[in-house]
Amino acid sequence: MEKDMYILGIETSCDETAASVVKNGKEILSNKVASQIESHKRFGGVVPEIASRHHVEQITIVIEEAMKEAGLDFSQLDAIAVTKGPGLVGALLIGVNAAKALAFAHQIPLVGVHHIAGHIYANRLVTDMRFPLIALVVSGGHTELVLMREHGTFEVIGETRDDAAGEAYDKVARTLNLTYPGGPVIDRLAHEGKALIDFPRAWLEDGSYDFSFSGLKSAVINTLHNAEQRGEQYNPEDVAASFQASVVEVLTEKTVRAAKQFQVKQVLLAGGVAANRGLRSELQKKMEELKDVELVIPPLSLCTDNAAMIAAAGTVFYEKGKRDGYNMNAYPGLELDHV
Ligand code: KG4
Ligand code: ZN
Repeated sequence: MEKDMYILGIETSCDETAASVVKNGKEILSNKVASQIESHKRFGGVVPEIASRHHVEQITIVIEEAMKEAGLDFSQLDAIAVTKGPGLVGALLIGVNAAKALAFAHQIPLVGVHHIAGHIYANRLVTDMRFPLIALVVSGGHTELVLMREHGTFEVIGETRDDAAGEAYDKVARTLNLTYPGGPVIDRLAHEGKALIDFPRAWLEDGSYDFSFSGLKSAVINTLHNAEQRGEQYNPEDVAASFQASVVEVLTEKTVRAAKQFQVKQVLLAGGVAANRGLRSELQKKMEELKDVELVIPPLSLCTDNAAMIAAAGTVFYEKGKRDGYNMNAYPGLELDHV
């Protein structure tokens, strides 16, 4: 029988301080997340300085809790996996340095993980991955269609040319005077309204898998300003529903088209916006025409930032023999194709 593998994951790329222990790349033994959302809310977005300070305060507590809940001590770990990019540099550095210190003190291998690889591997905590597969990664900083032909390799076949999907949600929410983060609030309002306003869909040139959300965001802002200038009332629920209909239509159409072209076995949803109810249900509906293609959607707690997904991805890289040295840095602009 093969020996069990235990990996500690650490994630601090944005506004969650997270640590988790995962067994054999699939089984969560602990998954601790300290969220800072309350501290950033009044600023309407993440303030990098504040994020770094929170990470410093939380990191050792969160790691200790994750180890305790897993019932392990450091000598039992096979490796420490940590998000090395992309993200806020000051935030990333807290996790990277904590991981390096622990790896050095306990002489444990160190594996740097791309944040988006982590989001994709959240799916392996739900079910086995079957290749080829397409992952739709939609978060506050990313909107990407990623083709995977085997474990640990990523081909970005489409990405946003401007705003990320989550960023568009957050900006539109701010225009509607809603709280941060805007995604969950707009999602809720959208279900109470009707998609009566015909906002644009950016399909881009024929066959492109890229996305663009800045035109849609401007269209929403212009519609609201025009209504205000004319002294007209607008219904926020209908604006939210119309905005969400545009985002969801483009995301789901392109995902299903890619699934057909690359004859995939699975479609995975990943990232914070994967929590969106409209996106989940529309993708489920459109995928019904694709026989034998499995749609995998992780539970909400694994869609938003967490460290179990970093440990899951780290396990695959570790098994492939990837190691980082004590000179590992934080890489705020790290590209997925290059990991
Ligand atoms: O993956 P994530 O937790 O952090 C990043 O790596 O960016 O994603 C956060 C983003 C935010 O923009 C938030 O508004 C969005 O995910 N989000 C949603 C929903 N829940 C979170 N967007 C749309 N609908 C939701 N239900
Ligand atoms: Zn994320």
